[in-house]
Amino acid sequence: MRNLVNILDLSTEEIDDLIKTASDIIDNPELYTNSCRGKILGTLFFEPSTRTRLSFTSAMMGLGGNVLGFSQAASSSISKGETVSDTIRMVSAYSDIIVMRHPKEGAPIVASAVSSVPVINAGDGGHFHPTQTLTDLLTIKKKKGGFNNLTVGVCGDLKYGRTVHSLIAAMSRYENVKFVLIAPSELALPDYVKAEYLDGKCEYTEIAGLEESIDRLDILYMTRIQAERFESKEEYERLKDSYVLTADKLKSAKADLSILHPLPRVNEISVDVDDDPRADYFDQAMYGRYIRMALILMLLKTKGISDSRLIGVENSSLECTNTHCISRTERGIKRLFTSSGACIYCDQQAKTK
Ligand code: NCD
Repeated sequence: MRNLVNILDLSTEEIDDLIKTASDIIDNPELYTNSCRGKILGTLFFEPSTRTRLSFTSAMMGLGGNVLGFSQAASSSISKGETVSDTIRMVSAYSDIIVMRHPKEGAPIVASAVSSVPVINAGDGGHFHPTQTLTDLLTIKKKKGGFNNLTVGVCGDLKYGRTVHSLIAAMSRYENVKFVLIAPSELALPDYVKAEYLDGKCEYTEIAGLEESIDRLDILYMTRIQAERFESKEEYERLKDSYVLTADKLKSAKADLSILHPLPRVNEISVDVDDDPRADYFDQAMYGRYIRMALILMLLKTKGISDSRLIGVENSSLECTNTHCISRTERGIKRLFTSSGACIYCDQQAKTK
């Protein structure tokens, strides 16, 4: 049985297969209308969502399956103090595949360890969001023809932006991909993402200004400043309008630039960009349904024991200091660390007690 917790759970060949299947579904949707007849998708959204939850729901419906679940933590037993493990044990008895979004980083790892059905991570705190990356990759394939030799600008909240972390992990596996990381220093890409996916693998530069690099980009991936993850409201207010892409700023950009955004946008792309032929973010949202259909089909085919990620050592002298990590709140789980001292749930470096 397979789960999708981190985008690197999929090989590049599997990503190619998913893109092929999604493209076939786009061309021949009628061939797939009964593919998941009798199957149930559990959608557990402990955090707000529009596109991801609705596109998964619409994906399962398009495959002839059924959907059950909840769209806010308040309407589930988590509000009564239930652990993630207990919720997942129950829901995996009621469904054939689970998609979950949770504010705590590493929650899908906890879920996949106890689930009897495949678990898909639809976003865990500010950590990862692999199915948004599949959507991004399908869009890049359609717009740019492939993934090699691209200069990718990622702009905005690179600290808390989980879609950025998964996109960088995925794109760093292709040839001659260069990243331009555009963020204020307070919202720079976390060290664990750099160490794991960029250092020694990919050329990258970190800059604060959007205008100074726009002319060399093949892809510009804009992101929202993630208000809900800030410790201080004042800091959010100070940083929230760090970047606003306007039609004017695009004058020096390449004619075949592809402008992406996982959405929702707040202020970071002005509406005057929407009519520019390089604005691909609404197509990107549309592709989400088809790649998720392909993913559901793929994961439902896999059988056997779960590919557990609970590999690490218990070390009583270490503690994970990330206040957003599931290991700090979930009762009864093992606190595990890698040999280099990173928490296996949130990937952040642990500290000696
Ligand atoms: C993103 C998310 O939830 O991380 N949204 C999405 O899934 N399309 C981006 C965001 O919320 O800013």
